[in-house]
Amino acid sequence: MNSNYDLAWLRYDKVSADGAGREQSLALQQLQGYLSNIVMADGVSSQVFRTAIQELTKGIGSLTGEQPSLSHTVEADRFLAVGTLEDTGNLGHLPLLNDSLEAAEAARLGEEGYVIREVAREGKDYIVIAGRTEKGLLYGVFHFLRLLQTGQASEALDLVEAPKYQLRMVNQWDNMDGSIERGYAGQSVFYQDNKIVSDLTRVRQYARMLASVGINGIAINNVNVHEVETKLITPELLPDVARVADVFRDYGIRLYLSVNFAAPLELGGTSTADPLEPVVQEWWKERAADIYRYIADFGGFLVKADSENRPGPFTYGRDHADGANMLAEALEPYGGLVLWRCFVYDCHQDWRDRKTDRARAAYDHFKPLDGRFKDNVILQIKNGPMDFQVREPVSPLFGAMKQTNQMLEFQITQEYTGQQRHVCYLIPQWKEVLEFDTLCQGEGSKVKDIVAGQVHPYKYSGITAVSSIGDDYNWTGHYLAQSNLYGYGRLLWNPELSAEEIAEEWTNMTFGDDQAVVNTILDILMESWPTYENYTSPLGVGWMVVPHYHYGPDVDGYEYSKWGTYHFADRDGIGVDRTQATGTGYSAQYVGANAALYDSLETCPDELLLFFHHVPYTHVLKSGKTVIQHIYDTHFAGVEQVEQWIVRWDALEKDKLDQQRYTHVKERLLEQLESAKHWRDVINTYFYRKSGIQDQHNRVIY
Ligand code: GCU
Repeated sequence: MNSNYDLAWLRYDKVSADGAGREQSLALQQLQGYLSNIVMADGVSSQVFRTAIQELTKGIGSLTGEQPSLSHTVEADRFLAVGTLEDTGNLGHLPLLNDSLEAAEAARLGEEGYVIREVAREGKDYIVIAGRTEKGLLYGVFHFLRLLQTGQASEALDLVEAPKYQLRMVNQWDNMDGSIERGYAGQSVFYQDNKIVSDLTRVRQYARMLASVGINGIAINNVNVHEVETKLITPELLPDVARVADVFRDYGIRLYLSVNFAAPLELGGTSTADPLEPVVQEWWKERAADIYRYIADFGGFLVKADSENRPGPFTYGRDHADGANMLAEALEPYGGLVLWRCFVYDCHQDWRDRKTDRARAAYDHFKPLDGRFKDNVILQIKNGPMDFQVREPVSPLFGAMKQTNQMLEFQITQEYTGQQRHVCYLIPQWKEVLEFDTLCQGEGSKVKDIVAGQVHPYKYSGITAVSSIGDDYNWTGHYLAQSNLYGYGRLLWNPELSAEEIAEEWTNMTFGDDQAVVNTILDILMESWPTYENYTSPLGVGWMVVPHYHYGPDVDGYEYSKWGTYHFADRDGIGVDRTQATGTGYSAQYVGANAALYDSLETCPDELLLFFHHVPYTHVLKSGKTVIQHIYDTHFAGVEQVEQWIVRWDALEKDKLDQQRYTHVKERLLEQLESAKHWRDVINTYFYRKSGIQDQHNRVIY
């Protein structure tokens, strides 16, 4: 494993008084008096508290070049006062924390919120950073440091923050041999040679990065649980798993494991994995007892069952509620959760079979089970009904189950969106998903509120995502792909933040505040998702990728396959008819006006047209263009956009950026350009040959 790493957005580069970092420098100058003295309440000693203090001292030390002093008493007239609301913490005769908050504000904080506020009392002037709990304090510290880094702290400090979501998780798809399923940034930082690595330095650094954006849970192994990983829940491997849990605990993050539904059978304990067999139930209870002996705050199990050839309850004629509840019962005495994935579909479909529609599968399987799951089960649902395509509709399963906890699964790793060789900033895509109004309880039943448990009163809910990191020096393969990991965390804390705000924050923290650099990176990020969509598969149809690798174009790669992923292009037209009258009826899984919107050719939004309808190439879109002309135009435009980025990147003064990052991004942009051209020419040529229709502008098509 590569043990060298970049500090990503936690660089805390020293701010100089002139040139780069001017805004930060002004903010720092104004706060200088406060920053040199940190005063903390007495008697608090939890590890998370210590982490918070370490982060604060380290961050300030690095940004200002001066180590702050730490004390329990007030000596200076200006200082930073840190602690938790639970500390009755008095600093000498100065009321510290409780008194600086109104009761209503204190209530709003919840378990993980914090307040950052300037207070003037009895001739002292101080900035309070306080959480209700130590975790809240840690998040408050990271927020404060972010304000310093991005030069925003010069405005009067007065904020109260709490996260929108209860579970804010990442899923590692890491295997113990060190490989990462759909990993595009090197090998695992967790495993090597079928063991958990002995040196957890990089894992600790990753925990810092995650905590700095508010992540509070992590499942550390691939959802496809192979032979060796099946043993992670046994006493043979639990001591090592516990070491990893210790690292994450220091940063307020709970550890979860993906489990193999057939584990009792495969580990030789039982002759079946039938969830209704007492011997199987007992086996899982014993495993739970083992796990909690090693990891008292273990989060729970993540389960991919009856999905893509993984074992599950169907083998025994049982359903998903039977399977999930059996595991939930084993974890229940300890407060553990079962995160049960809904990515269940027929992956052995006959392509000749036009009735079966993969998009329907999750809803058809799970909706009828509403009310059957125990309350420590959460259904984990991918954002779309297919599989993390550049464009697909929102899964109609969100909100469709009133009595079953739900959480949303995004994919940070760019499996279908350029594999971290292309820039594709995904926050705008995720925001569209979160803002989607399902109408399940009438208008205003948005996905963002459903998975916060605010539409139906779910006991547990939240958001998770497949992580994008590996042991590459820069963590994410493409330097600019760090923005997706960063932005993911920020969005989960506060989904009201705009994609631009998040991108700007990340860019400032990572690249300083040189205006030309910041503007160039910001523009590239903000244009990147539409650009990627432009030169890849059009109008929501998806899937025109090289099978299995999912990088580069292969229009018919999946067309005659078993995966349920078709576009049905012929000489007359293209698209999947998912309407009620003539198609698969998928559109009817949406509620009311949404079902009607998608079902009708007249109202279906252009960007999803081919997901819902099969149309002739000459069909006229709302944009006024025909489908075929749209395909040609977007594919030319996508490539031109990447060419523009390269011109802008070349125009940057090289000393405004370190050479390593400058060159790295340039190389990736060049690769993106080549790949985009390939996409353009393959797609345009394919559809020109199929349709025989000329490009109106007579550009080169082969
Ligand atoms: C996709 C991906 C697989 C992954 C699966 C899942 O199909 O290509 O590698 O295992 O999703 O989410 O389980």
